Amino acid sequence: MKFFVDTADVAAIAELNALGMVDGVTTNPSLIMKSGRDIKEVTKEICEMIYGPVSAETVALDADGMIAEGRELAKIADNITIKVPLTWDGLKACKVLTDEGRMVNVTLCFSANQALLAAKAGATFISPFVGRLDDLNIDGMDLIAEIRQIYDNYGFGTEILVASIRSANHMKEAALIGADVATAPPAVIKSMANHVMTDKGLDAFLKDWAKTGQKIL
Ligand code: E4P
Repeated sequence: MKFFVDTADVAAIAELNALGMVDGVTTNPSLIMKSGRDIKEVTKEICEMIYGPVSAETVALDADGMIAEGRELAKIADNITIKVPLTWDGLKACKVLTDEGRMVNVTLCFSANQALLAAKAGATFISPFVGRLDDLNIDGMDLIAEIRQIYDNYGFGTEILVASIRSANHMKEAALIGADVATAPPAVIKSMANHVMTDKGLDAFLKDWAKTGQKIL
C-alpha cells in the first residue's frame, strides 16, 4: 500500500520523506488554509520535494470552472494530481481532464455508487472519506471493502485512496482490505511505530544495562 501524506506542512512532509515513507501528498482547501501559505507557492515546494503524485484541489462548483482551475494547477509541476469533488460536475471535469492525460483525484466520496461513477469517468484516484463516515457511526472501512470488490469485479484501474484517516488502526484496516493508497496526517503515520510493549521492553533492557556499568561508546 502506498503512503500519501495528508498535509501542506512542508517540514512534516520532509521529515517523513527522509525515511522513504512518502509516495505522494494530498492537500485540500482546509489544509492550505492551515498552512497559511499561498496555494501555488506551497504546492510547488511540495512537488519539488516529492517524486509521486501531489493532489491540489479545485474550488469551482461548475465543470468548466474546475477544468480551468485544474489546468492552471497542473502548470505547477508534472506530478500535480487535480482534485475535484464527487459531484456530477466534478465527474464531467474528471472525464475532460483525464482525457487530456492528466491525473485526477475524485474526492469527497461517501458511497460505492459514487466510486463506481468516478471509475467510469476515468479517475486516477478515488478518495473515500472513512473518518467522516465513522463520525456518523457508519463503518468507513465497509465502504473501502465494497469499492475494492467492485473495482476488482470489473478490473477498473482507478486506485482506491483511503482518505480522512484518523488512526493507525485505519491504516492497518486499509492495508488488510487491499486499498492501493492511504493518505494520513503525519502524526498518524508516526503513531504506527508505537506499541506499549516496545516501550516496556526497552525500559526493562535499559534498566538492566545500567546495572552492568558498561558503555558501547
Ligand atoms: C484527503 O484527500 C482529504 O482531504 C482528507 O483526508 C480529509 O480528511 P479529514 O476528514 O480529516 O478532514
